[in-house]
Amino acid sequence: MRILFTGGSGKAGRHAIAYLLAQGHKVLNVDLVPLDLAGVENRIADLTDAGQVFDVMASYLSQDELEPGTGVPRFDAVVHFAAVPSLLLKSDNECYRVNTLSTYNVIDAALKFGLRKIIFASSETTYGVCFADGERKPDYLPMDEEHPTIPEDSYAMSKVVNEATAQCFQRRSGADIYGLRINNVIEPHEYARDFPAYLADPTLRRRNIFAYIDARDLGQMVECCLRTDGLGYQIFNVANDTHSVGLDTDALIAQFYQGVPLRREMGPQESFYTNAKAKDLVGFAPEHNDWRALIA
Ligand SMILES: NC(=O)c1ccc[n+]([C@@H]2O[C@H](COP(=O)([O-])OP(=O)(O)OC[C@H]3O[C@@H](n4cnc5c(N)ncnc54)[C@H](O)[C@@H]3O)[C@@H](O)[C@H]2O)c1
Repeated sequence: MRILFTGGSGKAGRHAIAYLLAQGHKVLNVDLVPLDLAGVENRIADLTDAGQVFDVMASYLSQDELEPGTGVPRFDAVVHFAAVPSLLLKSDNECYRVNTLSTYNVIDAALKFGLRKIIFASSETTYGVCFADGERKPDYLPMDEEHPTIPEDSYAMSKVVNEATAQCFQRRSGADIYGLRINNVIEPHEYARDFPAYLADPTLRRRNIFAYIDARDLGQMVECCLRTDGLGYQIFNVANDTHSVGLDTDALIAQFYQGVPLRREMGPQESFYTNAKAKDLVGFAPEHNDWRALIA
């Protein structure tokens, strides 16, 4: 596929793009800064500027596309990861502005150019636990996509708004628009660096509901979404199968989640942030669940 990928120079995007290139896709990375990765084409554009978004959407991906003399090909899909990716990086209102406006512009332009597949990065923070003032527990466990999304902060608010924006665009267009509620992204080098501390102190992972998503598995999830057509508007939790701490499920519940309803039996290391819908609907099969082997 010929893919327009936004925000690919960042932490998550660079791994997702590497995964997509390995599957044989052609990828144009649209970002404020280039990605130094063999095989990817870069275009610098500010996605909060609709003019620039419409321009890149109607652009040659690379110089070799000039050769056939048949004009600019259409992109087959958009993967939209560009964002201010957390609270406390910029002012709250700038985070909200960049995230909501860029998402509106990207989906609007993609649909007006006739694209039928859009995948966008939402966030675990929509559930309100991650960036709560004080401790907020999930309403129930395991946490699935039906859990209420009423966060308190501008970053997570922007992601809730983006989901609503995507759903409204999908209703009119009938295109496939899939939102990924991504859990905390872990790059390969971060296991040895950070996970020993998580083993020693599981409270470090409380705000992530003790879950994580390997950046390479996130790439696989994007590929699964690209391959699966006809689902309309969908939201998927994206996490690995296992907790990111040493305690097992019973011990975590005893220490952190007393009184939180458990809706079904869970395995001893099974993530509270369930990826069951992604497995069922698009065939997600995360491979990097056994981080314990990497830090032994
Ligand atoms: N990292 C995580 O743990 C995590 C968790 C959940 C969701 N997410 C979401 O995943 C996506 C990627 O996150 P990340 O961690 O890679 O963030 P990142 O900051 O590392 O990368 C985001 C990229 O977007 C680009 N960008 C920002 N504003 C832009 C604009 N106006 N125009 C063009 N490009 C712009 C940045 O230059 C950057 O390269 C984001 O949407 C983020 O909200 C990330």
